[in-house]
Amino acid sequence: MPGNALPMTGRTGRINGGMPGGPADGAALAGRPRVNDTITIADGPKPIMANEKPWGGRFTESTDAFVEAFTASVGFDRRLYRHDIQGSIAHATMLAHVGVLTTKECDAIVQGLKEIEAEIDAGQFAWSTQLEDVHMNIEARLTARLGETGKKLHTGRSRNDQVATDLRLYLRDGIDAVCAELGRLQQGLLQVAEREAETLMPGFTHLQVAQPVTFGHHLLAWFEMLVRDAARLRDCRRRVNVLPLGAAALAGTSFPIDRAYTAKLLGFEAVAENSLDAVSDRDFAIEFAAAAALIMMHLSRMAEELVLWSSSQFGFIELPDAFCTGSSIMPQKKNPDVPELVRGKCGRVYGHLLALLTLMKAQPLAYNKDNQEDKEPVFDALDTVLACLRAFADMVPALRVQRDAMARAARRGFSTATDLADYLVRKGLPFRDAHEVVGKAVRAGLDSGRDLAQMPLAELRGFSPLIGED
Ligand code: ARG
Repeated sequence: MPGNALPMTGRTGRINGGMPGGPADGAALAGRPRVNDTITIADGPKPIMANEKPWGGRFTESTDAFVEAFTASVGFDRRLYRHDIQGSIAHATMLAHVGVLTTKECDAIVQGLKEIEAEIDAGQFAWSTQLEDVHMNIEARLTARLGETGKKLHTGRSRNDQVATDLRLYLRDGIDAVCAELGRLQQGLLQVAEREAETLMPGFTHLQVAQPVTFGHHLLAWFEMLVRDAARLRDCRRRVNVLPLGAAALAGTSFPIDRAYTAKLLGFEAVAENSLDAVSDRDFAIEFAAAAALIMMHLSRMAEELVLWSSSQFGFIELPDAFCTGSSIMPQKKNPDVPELVRGKCGRVYGHLLALLTLMKAQPLAYNKDNQEDKEPVFDALDTVLACLRAFADMVPALRVQRDAMARAARRGFSTATDLADYLVRKGLPFRDAHEVVGKAVRAGLDSGRDLAQMPLAELRGFSPLIGED
């Protein structure tokens, strides 16, 4: 088969591994999937023999029941079903395009897959642990419906490039959803910032009153964090949006596939250049988790301030009732649960980032079963960041701002001391001397329990005659 000797790289070409000995992924076309056509795919008491499984040809004993459950991923990867079907439809369409499938076969497969999707949507699909994962569950169902034709779908493909494709499609949608929620939160922040553009509040460093700022300015600081978070996601999306199909198990395929065509059907911007890399690396998922961790870090900072500000000690804001809960014992309590939970959920997303980094660390090429462990961290990171963004996007526009309390606080704590020093500099005093003068005035104020604004002009002039009416 001369096709096998094709080089591995090439922008849109095949990424065959150059293996001399035939198709890399076990010639599925030659009738391999051995799922019994009449098998009912449910977790029934009757185990299916290993040699009845899609990969069962070389096996003589059935899988140990615990091992079957231990190695199965269908319990969580069934979430990929829409993207799995989307990828399979594109793959079958491409196979027909290059003449590996007939149009009739392709039409039957596409139709069958759409019907399976409808079954799953309707909750009428019987998932089977014995069929291991989402890919084999769907393929077995297709074969149960179509017979021989269903067995042809996996031609020129392996679960290794299939799962990498599914995860990329899934994550691409996930990133778009996160970007949409981020945008909604940003809109909310802009809206409140505009409304509170003149609202004075104390600005803090070291959580000590520093200088007055406006509440609008503070909210726009949050906004800027999210601008960078969104840019990071867009950047990550470009590297997610690459087609692994064609890599097959690890070394490409001998079939004359058209990867550029499949990529176009699926909206991928590029095709993976190296088959070993395409099936093995999950750096794109790690990048997403890192971007998600940074979003959570930013949300946790906002959360912390919201919790502080809604306390009676600060009293800067009131959270909407709909976002708080009470206490079963203390009648006066209104707890800022939503920001607290967001702050708390930050930890699990950091955890997922570390889990994925560790999962990938020191993995030899190419695909290893370790990578099955990539899904739950990705799913939970997505769920968490989406839920937290949603909660904040809904809550922020409903914040009640206590302008008077903020303004009063802005006047306390000597927050205008720097302005007074700058005033003296403008009157000709060197800044260090001005700093000293105001420091002494602050000391006197502290000793007598008064802020600078409460001290009479005559008294202030005692610290420097440069202080005037203005
Ligand atoms: N369930 C597997 C995963 O999530 C699919 C790929 C399995 N490939 C294999 N060679 N066993 O990674």
